[in-house]
Amino acid sequence: MKVTVVGAGAVGASCAEYIAIKDFASEVVLLDIKEGFAEGKAMDLMQTASLNGFDTKITGVTNDYSQTANSDICVITSGIPRKPGMTREELIGINAGIVKMVSSSLIEHSPNTIIIVVSNPMDTMTYLVHKTTDLPKNRIIGMGGALDSARFKYRLAQALEAPISDVDGMVIGGHSDKGMVPLTAHATRNSVKVSEFLSDDRLNQVKEDTKVGGATLTKLLGTSAWYAPGAAVSGLVQAIACDQKKMFPCSVLLEGEYGLNDLCIGVPVILGRNGIESIVKINLSDAEEAHLKESAAGVQKTNGLLEL
Ligand code: LAC
Repeated sequence: MKVTVVGAGAVGASCAEYIAIKDFASEVVLLDIKEGFAEGKAMDLMQTASLNGFDTKITGVTNDYSQTANSDICVITSGIPRKPGMTREELIGINAGIVKMVSSSLIEHSPNTIIIVVSNPMDTMTYLVHKTTDLPKNRIIGMGGALDSARFKYRLAQALEAPISDVDGMVIGGHSDKGMVPLTAHATRNSVKVSEFLSDDRLNQVKEDTKVGGATLTKLLGTSAWYAPGAAVSGLVQAIACDQKKMFPCSVLLEGEYGLNDLCIGVPVILGRNGIESIVKINLSDAEEAHLKESAAGVQKTNGLLEL
């Protein structure tokens, strides 16, 4: 199992680290445009191998896509991250050109790969990868929902004063402050609906805190977060590599599902060896359905800024 991670910044390096620590891939190639940077990160990570107990071989390369040849899975993290006060949508100008170039270069050397898109605005960048590579829809996956759901569970656990392992919940919709749809009515603590423990006001607070999860961190850190994004990607990569058939909310091209067409947005999917094995249709309340439609309109608006 060969995995390429493009972009050796904080998110890319965290992805490589978590993938390696889980020790399911034989090889991870880290690629960056900055001379020597990926090589340095790869060497540093390899020097943790004996300490952290993994055998995954991590290699760093400067912009040499031939080294990524025959990757089973490629992760695109390249582009600029947001600064405090910026929305993910504001990154489109610079990141669209980068993602277009990176996805074409990856496909040239790994025509059978599955691509995971992390660069922002993520739903629009996932759609751009579809338009650029024309790969089948099961092989292009946007990472947002897995991260947003992890942030949702963190906030739920705080509100419930419960350990995270007691809590389950999912966020669908666009990966943006306004577009996220935390499914509070479906969230549970050990199979009991969280609404049995939390007031509407408290649940609403959880929802709002979840939606600005990334922005809150960007304000604190001065740049966007990396540990949870890296861990979320590694979860998707592992589900595919190990054919786990796990359910995650991921950004995927919709063709009528959930009444939506011709856009990528977060919905529950089953991940396995073929990438997206299926899209899962769940029953949404009228309010959730309306929120998802509104979220889709926001993603379509950002997609409209692409020069296709
Ligand atoms: C975040 C970035 C990765 O939400 O979009 O932290």
